Amino acid sequence: MISRYRSRLPVTDATPVISLNEGSTPLIHSPRLSALSGAEVYLKFEGLNPTGSFKDRGMTVAISKAVEDGADTVICASTGNTSAAAAAYAARAGIRCAVILPAGKIASGKLVQAFIYGAKVVAIRGNFDDALRIVRELGALGGVAIVNSINPHRIEGQKTASFEIIDELGEAPDIHILPVGNAGNITAYWRGYREFHAADRSSVLPKMLGFQASGAAPIFHGHPVEPHTIATAIRIGNPASWEGANAAVKESGGCIDTVTDAQILDAQAWLASHEGIFVEPASAASVAGLLRCLGSDRCPRCPFAGGLRAGSKIVLTVTGHGLKDPDAPVKHGGFAPVEADADLTAVRRALD
Ligand code: F0G
Repeated sequence: MISRYRSRLPVTDATPVISLNEGSTPLIHSPRLSALSGAEVYLKFEGLNPTGSFKDRGMTVAISKAVEDGADTVICASTGNTSAAAAAYAARAGIRCAVILPAGKIASGKLVQAFIYGAKVVAIRGNFDDALRIVRELGALGGVAIVNSINPHRIEGQKTASFEIIDELGEAPDIHILPVGNAGNITAYWRGYREFHAADRSSVLPKMLGFQASGAAPIFHGHPVEPHTIATAIRIGNPASWEGANAAVKESGGCIDTVTDAQILDAQAWLASHEGIFVEPASAASVAGLLRCLGSDRCPRCPFAGGLRAGSKIVLTVTGHGLKDPDAPVKHGGFAPVEADADLTAVRRALD
């Protein structure tokens, strides 16, 4: 990814590029969401990055710069995906990684990733916001490089997703929808869109629509909250990039809105069974958000309220792979196979 957009990233000949061939993820046309919305809808499937989420884009830059600066240990707080990416890129760089996580609130696949990539894992009795506070305090003591999105290199890397979308569509979309947790990604996308717009690579600036889980919606409510949601990736009550999210929404004419856990899980199942794309719950907040915009309970500031112009393009970022968190949909869907004896008659009966 760094090699694709090198001139727009903070790297020099002195930067040892630590990469796992992240980025260049598919922008998948969604025929059914297009039919429902009357627009051309695409899904930027970030779950197809090397560690299964968009975090790899920021991490390749953050770890490369940390190594350039001589760091031998990196640290982050995480709801699971940042820690997976940090651990993988640190392993690739041959440096140490420590991750501070909220105990009991990390999806099983993500926790396994932190361990298997060789990170030191500390689970605190607290939430993500507590973990990030402790990481800031540890960072101030020195000797470690913080690779959360408060590290500006992370945002720089993540903005490349906007570049890829413009490169592929030949233009920015009219509307971009994504889930919001710590708010680094909406900040990064908006930066990427503005950068390519300023460089005449696109004539459109999309309206940025961010969706928070209704139980973890501090930006929507305008104050920090104690977060609760099944979408553990975005279970955040006091986002670090709050101002960046507000700027993206204000400057683009978009909005921050909410979707309930039930809407998130329904959207996750709908996307898998209608389009063949399995994303984790937090990622399905994008799809739930679009469906909400198309319904009667959309927010008053919704850009869909006035109708979309013909030929409008909408891009939804689906941020992480569904296999990271198999427990949430199983619990929700109550999935269980039909058992049968091992003979043709029994199996045909079961198939009926
Ligand atoms: N989707 C997924 C799958 C995530 O893991 C995250 C954030 C987001 C959306 C929200 O992105 O924070 O930039 O607004 N995960 C972080 C983590 C907090 O620690 O993995 P954001």
